[in-house]
Amino acid sequence: MSKEVKKQIKAFLKDKTKRELRVKYPGPRLNAGSHWYCMRNPIRMLWTSFIVEITRKLPPCEFKNNLLRMIGVKIGKDVCISPDVVIDWLFPELIEIDDGTLLGGSIWIAAHSIIIDEIRLGRVKIGKQVMIGSFSCNEPPTTIGDRAIVGIYCYVNKDVPPDSFVVGIPMQIKKDLKEINYLKEFNEKLMSLKKK
Ligand SMILES: CC(C)(COP(=O)(O)OP(=O)(O)OC[C@H]1O[C@@H](n2cnc3c(N)ncnc32)[C@H](O)[C@@H]1OP(=O)(O)O)[C@@H](O)C(=O)NCCC(=O)NCCS
Repeated sequence: MSKEVKKQIKAFLKDKTKRELRVKYPGPRLNAGSHWYCMRNPIRMLWTSFIVEITRKLPPCEFKNNLLRMIGVKIGKDVCISPDVVIDWLFPELIEIDDGTLLGGSIWIAAHSIIIDEIRLGRVKIGKQVMIGSFSCNEPPTTIGDRAIVGIYCYVNKDVPPDSFVVGIPMQIKKDLKEINYLKEFNEKLMSLKKK
């Protein structure tokens, strides 16, 4: 039975066009979470959770980003990951964080979600120059558009449009930032620095 679960997960991981997978857990355990090893090889899981634990203790730095890249997370340049950010240790390869994004402390970035009888996997895409406030978490699949701001303690349970400010549990759009283009001046300054 668990072979069928593994097969579906493998196919999903390969097929980059699919955003989400939901598989009914066939048993025999009382909940799918206690049978996590039907989804991932236990040795691999030990390795990824070890790396994630190390990165939780490190300040934001390129060494930390490289450790996370090593377990499959796609991370762009100038990405700042604060201490205690928990990256999904079961499916880190489903997570993508684009250039210039800032993650506050104690954020949970999930690429899987297990209910008693169901396993859900989803791709997570965090755009360019996104700011995610501390203590936020997400329900996969999740796409956060470029330059979005996620307020502190937010539960991101749907996609966040680019240039928007979202807050709350569950998440709501508080402000559309398109009009004010709040990073325009900052990015123009960066461009002129590059030219020099
Ligand atoms: C995003 C953030 C910077 C916004 O701060 P700000 O620009 O000063 O915004 P304001 O405090 O003026 O709030 C604007 C509105 O959003 C609301 N709001 C702001 N943050 C909120 C939150 N986390 N949850 C719910 N509502 C929030 C305010 O109540 C206010 O609502 P109102 O206009 O109805 O009164 C701030 O909310 C935040 O998340 N800070 C944490 C930053 C962080 O974790 N950085 C990580 C690296 S250290």
